[in-house]
Amino acid sequence: MSSLWLDMHEGSQMPTDALPGRASVDVAVAGGGLTGLATAVALARTGRRVIVLEARTVGAVATGNTTAKLSLLQGARLSEIRRRHALGTAAAYLTASRAAQDWLLELCRTHRVEVQRRDAVSYAVGEAGARRLRAEQETARALGLPARWEDSTELPFPVAGALSLAEQAQFDPMEVLLALAQELRERGGMIVDGARLTDVAGRDPLTVSTTRGTVHADRLVLATGVPVLGRGGHALRMVPHRSYALAYRVPESGWVPRGMHVSVDAPVRSLRSARYGDEELLLVGGNDHVTGRAEPAAAVQELDTWARSLVPGIERTHWWAAQDYESASGLPLIGALPGSGGRILASTGYAKWGMTSAVVGALAVTGTIEDRPPSWLGALRSAGGGLPAVAAMAALTAAAGREAMTGWAGAALRPLPSRPPSEGEGVVGRRGARPVAVSTVDGRTCAVSGVCTHLAGVLRWNDAEHTWDCPLHGSRFSAEGALLEGPAVKDLGTEPL
Ligand SMILES: Cc1cc2nc3c(=O)[nH]c(=O)nc-3n(C[C@H](O)[C@H](O)[C@H](O)COP(=O)(O)OP(=O)(O)OC[C@H]3O[C@@H](n4cnc5c(N)ncnc54)[C@H](O)[C@@H]3O)c2cc1C
Ligand code: FES
Repeated sequence: MSSLWLDMHEGSQMPTDALPGRASVDVAVAGGGLTGLATAVALARTGRRVIVLEARTVGAVATGNTTAKLSLLQGARLSEIRRRHALGTAAAYLTASRAAQDWLLELCRTHRVEVQRRDAVSYAVGEAGARRLRAEQETARALGLPARWEDSTELPFPVAGALSLAEQAQFDPMEVLLALAQELRERGGMIVDGARLTDVAGRDPLTVSTTRGTVHADRLVLATGVPVLGRGGHALRMVPHRSYALAYRVPESGWVPRGMHVSVDAPVRSLRSARYGDEELLLVGGNDHVTGRAEPAAAVQELDTWARSLVPGIERTHWWAAQDYESASGLPLIGALPGSGGRILASTGYAKWGMTSAVVGALAVTGTIEDRPPSWLGALRSAGGGLPAVAAMAALTAAAGREAMTGWAGAALRPLPSRPPSEGEGVVGRRGARPVAVSTVDGRTCAVSGVCTHLAGVLRWNDAEHTWDCPLHGSRFSAEGALLEGPAVKDLGTEPL
């Protein structure tokens, strides 16, 4: 299982460096996704010495597994922001997204990254969806975004309505990361793979500890998806949403979308085309759920069945999954961490619209460090709190608390079975007082701690990706216990079989 983009770029020359013995830089950026690399390049353009510290490999997590639609029309996002915040906040979000879109398109132009200009379409199939679309149309109109109402679309099924916005864009996200990495290197920056940030201490400079060694930096930017190290409590203020994407080869007379479509009804569906060699594949995404709180294999199966019912005779070439984080306020969370004296900054909470919001984060962090914050940043940041966000945050905490109790009660009641799980299965059970997680993948049975290294959630088996996923805040681990993503910074301990 690999995304189309990671598959196409396997073995390609993503630049990486060894960590120098006594590395000392202006800014260390943890995370080599779009947020991290765009931030690093924006800072390098101001003449700063920058190092990117990536726990796995560049693009390995959300950015290499996205669906990469670069659009100002984002489902029904503007009206969702408007419902919870002032119109000025939605206006600031749109202005920031436009600045980010322009920045990324200019990067693609100068680095000759292929961009396909496409109409973005938000569509509804039911009455509730149509009402959401009308609200989106109204907000778009109030903000001067020229989205058009359509009664029909190119989709091979009827819709209750659609909004379309011309001249948006789609691309291969790994091409974009490659361009960013090359520019960063040309400007004297470094990228170190396999360097997981584990701690930060001191002040002037910061001592940044990683699994590859130590870096001294005036500032640290956390571009790690959800910010790690817990200092801003971000993991507790956000929901990790995992969703699925499938790519298909289409028979000669079969349908491939020209536009980029996203439904505003549940379950969310997303459709676009994607270049694969000389072929144009159909790409279908959706079936979003909170990480660790659903049945992943059933979600993939259902999406596959839906795609096959749309276009008969298609042949699946790739499938993959990824997660992104949504904040309690519904807005990206960008800025300095409390108590860090402005030295540690983070950007997160893109709600699956990070092709613009990651760059919004990069521009905001760079402007803040330069002491010239963008005009839209104040409105975005001041709207991050408020009563609706506090209520949403209380609901998040309660939901995580329920998951914690259910997980520990289940593990306490269930002794570990004496026989190993069947191929592709995993089970958590009690050994003594400890939850232990046992799985069998590719004929190999592994036993690891069943307790997440972040804040002790009891893990659940992901039957599609064969991983251990935490239902509290979305940390994920391989069957062997290696940390894959999320707010945790340590692997799971191994257990005897
Ligand atoms: C299925 C799916 C489809 C999407 N489709 C779209 C779309 O069409 N349009 C759109 O605008 N957005 C889309 N998004 C959202 C977008 O892909 C993300 O918001 C964006 O890629 C996030 O980028 P990032 O750099 O913040 O995170 P990531 O790409 O996840 O990068 C974070 C990096 O930090 C590294 N890291 C983590 N912990 C540490 C540590 N301790 N030390 C060092 N490094 C660490 C990780 O290994 C990772 O490489 C989609 C998201 C998903 C999940
Ligand atoms: S991710 Fe927080 S407890 Fe597991």
